[in-house]
Amino acid sequence: MSIPVLTIDGPSGAGKGTVSRAVAKRLGWNYLDSGSIYRSLAIAVLKQAVDLKDEAAIVNVAQTMALEFDCNDELVVRLDGEDITAQLGLESTGNTASIVAVLPEVRHVLLQKQKDFKQSPGLVADGRDMGTVVFPEAENKVFLTASAAERARRRYKQLIEKGNGANLAQITNEIEERDRRDMERKTAPLAMANDALYIDSSDMTLESVIEEVLNLIR
Ligand code: C5P
Repeated sequence: MSIPVLTIDGPSGAGKGTVSRAVAKRLGWNYLDSGSIYRSLAIAVLKQAVDLKDEAAIVNVAQTMALEFDCNDELVVRLDGEDITAQLGLESTGNTASIVAVLPEVRHVLLQKQKDFKQSPGLVADGRDMGTVVFPEAENKVFLTASAAERARRRYKQLIEKGNGANLAQITNEIEERDRRDMERKTAPLAMANDALYIDSSDMTLESVIEEVLNLIR
């Protein structure tokens, strides 16, 4: 029997992570946070002080880095044996991730690492190209978005709640810049799969988004 896959793609800050984790938990399925793979590569590249213009060196890091994912209650990621979970959420990590993610060879190298997450009894995969490139065969696909202003507001609130300093105008600019890079890149740009359900969560509660996604599976 084939393993069911639900893909949830969309721009950064649309709530994909929270929704995907909740849906995976309710279904008892595995969860792939594909952004964390690009973020891990960004951390490795920053640690090794690789020039962001040196494509061959970045590809080399992608090929040689050893990643371990522990996806129990909380995601724990180890890079070459070191726990990097705390660095994954940093804005600098996300911004660098979107720069290295533009490179076609990097995406090629990371493709199999993502496909390996497809394990029984099922998989919820969250990212930009889950339904279009990594799991085009998935029978259930969602494109989850929200306005840039709403996504910036949510991110700002998250940072303030965590006790970090934050500047709403700067976050809005960064979100728009990241959207532009993710949508305009040549390889696997952020785009809605033809067979995906479109959900704009700008005016929806988290619970109603989760319900709508679960309805798709039922
Ligand atoms: O989703 P998240 O914000 O963690 O992703 C960080 C960056 O990694 C994104 O801005 C995007 O450039 C890249 N990414 C990607 N393809 C994915 C997931 C993330 O290009 N499937």
